Amino acid sequence: MAKNSSTFTCSACGAVHKKWSGRCDACGEWNTIIEEKPLSQGPSGKSLGNARGRALPLLDLATEEAPPPRTQSGMGELDRVLGGGLVPASAILVGGDPGIGKSTLLLQAAASFARAGLKAVYISGEEASAQVRMRAQRLGLSDAPVRLGTETNLRDILTTLEAEKPDVAIIDSIQTMWADTVDSAPGSVSQVRAAAHELTTFAKRKGIAVILVGHVTKEGQIAGPRVVEHMVDTVLYFEGERGHQFRILRAVKNRFGPADEIGVFEMTGGGLSEVANPSALFLSEREQPTPGSAVFAGIEGTRPVLCEFQALVAPSPHSQPRRTVVGWDGGRLAMILAVLESRCGIAFTGLDVYLNVAGGMKITEPAADLAVAAALLSAREDAALPSDCVVFGEISLSGSLRPVGQTENRLKEAGKLGFTKAIAPARSKTGDGGEVSVRQMADLTAFVGEIFGA
Ligand code: TYD
Ligand code: MG
Repeated sequence: MAKNSSTFTCSACGAVHKKWSGRCDACGEWNTIIEEKPLSQGPSGKSLGNARGRALPLLDLATEEAPPPRTQSGMGELDRVLGGGLVPASAILVGGDPGIGKSTLLLQAAASFARAGLKAVYISGEEASAQVRMRAQRLGLSDAPVRLGTETNLRDILTTLEAEKPDVAIIDSIQTMWADTVDSAPGSVSQVRAAAHELTTFAKRKGIAVILVGHVTKEGQIAGPRVVEHMVDTVLYFEGERGHQFRILRAVKNRFGPADEIGVFEMTGGGLSEVANPSALFLSEREQPTPGSAVFAGIEGTRPVLCEFQALVAPSPHSQPRRTVVGWDGGRLAMILAVLESRCGIAFTGLDVYLNVAGGMKITEPAADLAVAAALLSAREDAALPSDCVVFGEISLSGSLRPVGQTENRLKEAGKLGFTKAIAPARSKTGDGGEVSVRQMADLTAFVGEIFGA
């Protein structure tokens, strides 16, 4: 490509294309490709090959100091998602829809870190300092020793950080930052990339942990957080349904801890409060045994979480019946419907199928297959499952049930919440499952026969 000619970059995933098109081939998003000027060339186009390097004997690895201890913020749910606290000099991205509560979360986090003895700086590029102060006051944080900056010029920010020498710096948000060396508007892919690169490398060099806030954008006007995901150590997404109070902070990548860990919060008038027992919360809206409901004993990261699958099956007025899923994978639903039809002879032809995970949870574990099948069958047969029973297990294409990990933990959590029965795949290692009596089944046909007498 000729120098200085424009490139076309996807604002959702950062993929670079030679020409504009309506849909990004890389991530499949529509209307996200925008024209960008090339990044300005550095001062030298010279090769890096001639400088003398330093040999690093392999033994250096062994003599390296032990990693510095993590700092706990005292917000248990945040510490858990970070893998046990904040690692010094790490780079963290917190992504989420606008208005979901990222600024609230991070202002509370800044205050907690400051109270835990770290020097914390909060840089807001979106709100004026009076606004941030007002929010802090409302959240009861005005006494926390957090330094506040409201700059957007990267040069100013780096100078401030250089002078302040904080332990942790929060940048809210990466899309408002701009580097004067890059010739495009704030929020564009090249600006977001340059700002994230400058901030993370600066922070690593100076030993500052940096937390970047990134808005998820659908319109493609500004670059989304996926553009910087690969530059940081930890990627957290803050999720939740509008109209629901629950917010879930989910680790999708973590160099310093398990991915898939979740922290659960509730948005209240006084900010975000932690939910220490998410199972109780997700099951709190459950009524009397209803057809179409099944309780799944799941594992999120390192802890068991119980949640409810709800299904509705109704005759379809459409030639192509609907399959609508919230909180679970649509492809996986199609697979379970196909297995039910071809292995158990239970067809859903001519029926609309709606599947929902209560409380706004998103479940990705294949272990939920059996709970999904149970909810679907219960809705189709109009027969409620026993209310004191949890279900889990992976369904294979042959219709057999595969054991899943951490059976014992699932059962213990179910027992804690007052469940007395569980349906699990045969050969599950139940160990000391506590109070819960486990019915093991080898395949879906046995399950259908036993539970629904079909
Ligand atoms: P905010 O943190 O500004 O979201 P983001 O930074 O992700 O855009 O949160 C905005 C929403 O949170 C707003 O709709 C109001 C709500 N909120 C509360 O319900 N309680 C509170 O104490 C605060 C500070 C905000
Ligand atoms: Mg915000």
